[in-house]
This record gives sequence, structure tokens and C-alpha cells, in this order.
Amino acid sequence: MALKIAPSILSADFGRLAEEVQAAEEAGADWIHVDVMDGHFVPNITLGAAITAAVRRATALPVDVHLMVERPEDHLEAFRDAGADWISVHSEACPHLHRVLERIRELGARPGVALNPATPLGAVEEVIPLMDLLLVMSVNPGFGGQRYIASSTAKLARARKLLDDAGGREVELEVDGGIGPETALEASRAGAGVLVAGSSIFRSPEGVYEALKGLRENLVEPSGHG
Ligand code: DX5
Ligand code: ZN
Repeated sequence: MALKIAPSILSADFGRLAEEVQAAEEAGADWIHVDVMDGHFVPNITLGAAITAAVRRATALPVDVHLMVERPEDHLEAFRDAGADWISVHSEACPHLHRVLERIRELGARPGVALNPATPLGAVEEVIPLMDLLLVMSVNPGFGGQRYIASSTAKLARARKLLDDAGGREVELEVDGGIGPETALEASRAGAGVLVAGSSIFRSPEGVYEALKGLRENLVEPSGHG
């Protein structure tokens, strides 16, 4: 399974959103990551289903929605209708995570679980058969442009082992927060297969194309080539 890069539009220029998404696609992005924040689960308010639908119209790539909201179960349908292919919820926001993951699949999207830096991997152990993706936060969610938390690398390695030991189904391991050329390499070596990057792509002085190319050139593919 080749490494995937998922640019986060949180750091894009919203006045030119469609162009920014298309630039990421042309530069070789694999997914487009959409960071939804509600001002309750996290301190910041960002964007919702209408912007997700605009992203959907701008690209053929899978749209990866990261819900940093309380009661995500109330909003699943709206994001699925907006065109989300992947929907991740935070375990910390879901006392009934099992039910929420079943619901995401029922709606026809791929279910993911996100974990804050302080949340142990044990929070997902019982629901691995229901998940298609595990999102390990490498910053405290709320804002783009934060610094990668160093202990995330060891957590990713443990997550990789947990998923591999669970056997059978393939569960994507995604890392999100503070990913640039160096941390991308570190996280991919630890076993992350999907790298979310916001500011290092959309705020790069060299532009989206060069930034994405630079990120990819620096990576070690799990298959051993590239
Ligand atoms: C953090 C978000 C991330 C973030 C990534 O709360 O979930 O997706 O925007 O941005 P960078 O790459 O700038 O850390
Ligand atoms: Zn995110």
C-alpha cells in the first residue's frame, strides 16, 4: 500500500478554495482532508458541510472529513450528503463509538476514529473490526500550524502493531498535525500510511506543487521503493 498524502484545506485560501484543491490534486495529492471544528470539542470554529460540498465539486479525489465536534452522530448524514468518502470521529466525543461507526458505514462512507495526543490506543481496541481508518493526532486539535508532538512517533509505531496484530482487514493509519518534510519521514517510518499536511503545503512560499513534491520526495515508501 503506497503512502498517501492528504492536504488539509484548513490552511488553504478559502477565497480560492476550488483552485487550491485543484492545485493539490494536480500536484499529486491522494485525498483532500477537511477539518471540521465546532468551537466546543475544540476551541476553534472552522467549516462545515457546505464547504465540504464545495470541495467535493472541485475534485475527484476521496474527501476525508475529520470531525472535531461534539455529538458527531448528529451531523453524519449532512457530511455524507456533502460528498464525504471518509468520516472520522473523535473517540473522546463518542460515548457510543461502536454505534457511530456502524452508522457511518450504513451511510456508505468509510469510518475512521481519531485520537487526541492524550488518548491511549486502548480507546479503539474493541472497535478495530468496525474501523477503516485510525487517525493519530500529532498535535492537540484546534489549529493548523502547530508543532508535531515528538511522542506521536512511538504512538504511531504502537498503533501500527496494534492494527497489524488485529490481522485480516486493512485499516489505514493516518497522522495529522505538524507534518512537514522531516516529521513526514519520521511518521512514515513509524508506520503511518496517510499523512495529513496543512500549513506545510498551502502556506509554503514555494507553492502547493513544490511543497507536495518536496514532501513526497522525502518519504520512504512502505513497499521499499521510492
Ligand atoms: C488540527 C487539524 C489538522 C491541521 C493540520 O486540529 O486536525 O488537520 O489542520 O495542519 P498542520 O499541517 O498545519 O498542522
Ligand atoms: Zn485533521
